[in-house]
Amino acid sequence: MISIRNMHKTYTDNSAKQAVFENVSYEFNSQGVYSIVGSSGSGKTTFLNLISGLDAFEKGSIEIDGRNLDTLSVEAKSTLRKAEFGFGYQFHYLLENLTIHENCLAACHGQDNSHITSILKKLGIYHIKDKFPSKVSGGEKQRASIARALSKKPRILILDEPTGNLDQENSLIVQDFLLNYASENKSLVIYATHDIAFAKRADKSLNIVERSIVEK
Ligand SMILES: Nc1ncnc2c1ncn2[C@@H]1O[C@H](COP(=O)(O)OP(=O)(O)OP(=O)(O)O)[C@@H](O)[C@H]1O
Ligand SMILES: [Mg+2]
Repeated sequence: MISIRNMHKTYTDNSAKQAVFENVSYEFNSQGVYSIVGSSGSGKTTFLNLISGLDAFEKGSIEIDGRNLDTLSVEAKSTLRKAEFGFGYQFHYLLENLTIHENCLAACHGQDNSHITSILKKLGIYHIKDKFPSKVSGGEKQRASIARALSKKPRILILDEPTGNLDQENSLIVQDFLLNYASENKSLVIYATHDIAFAKRADKSLNIVERSIVEK
């Protein structure tokens, strides 16, 4: 479970301060699908980074299964992330010197199994598994990034605009896949999206409005 209490987040840029979140409290269950929506610049990516310990906040607390992120060392946070989280980012961050398949293998310490093959097939990118990221399209990279995030079967899956670069057909393939993954593995899946139809398919949809989180 992820529990946020009275959290404040401010960015300071060239001494100018910008509050992104003010007094946010929210509890995620240990399993289920949550979407995050909000206009561009409202704080979706920041929110995903905060709840996974990748970004710091000024006030309040964020707990992952009772572990307070504020009291954990950088190493402990990194260990927690590796053990519990899988990430698929807006910009893919695949390792360029590894093939798509090797990127997936690297995420689960080289242990291939039928699981990776099955994910690549379901996402429609099995035929490009031996290509390097620079040789595939933006949408293929995005699906590869999702495949990599899922290859170690994370308990918590964080996705930033997972369908952002995809056409309608592939967007639906990814959506169905993610929703199935969550229910089959009893995982917590949290994704940010601008696609309102996709947002509505989550168990709960959270809207970022005026530096707050509002459940729709
Ligand atoms: N590292 C940073 N330093 C300073 N300001 C930042 C930083 N990252 C983001 N911001 C600002 O914080 C606000 C929230 O940004 P964020 O990237 O979380 O928005 P978003 O909802 O993900 O937007 P988009 O839909 O365009 O991806 C924006 O106003 C942005 O300019
Ligand atoms: Mg964003």
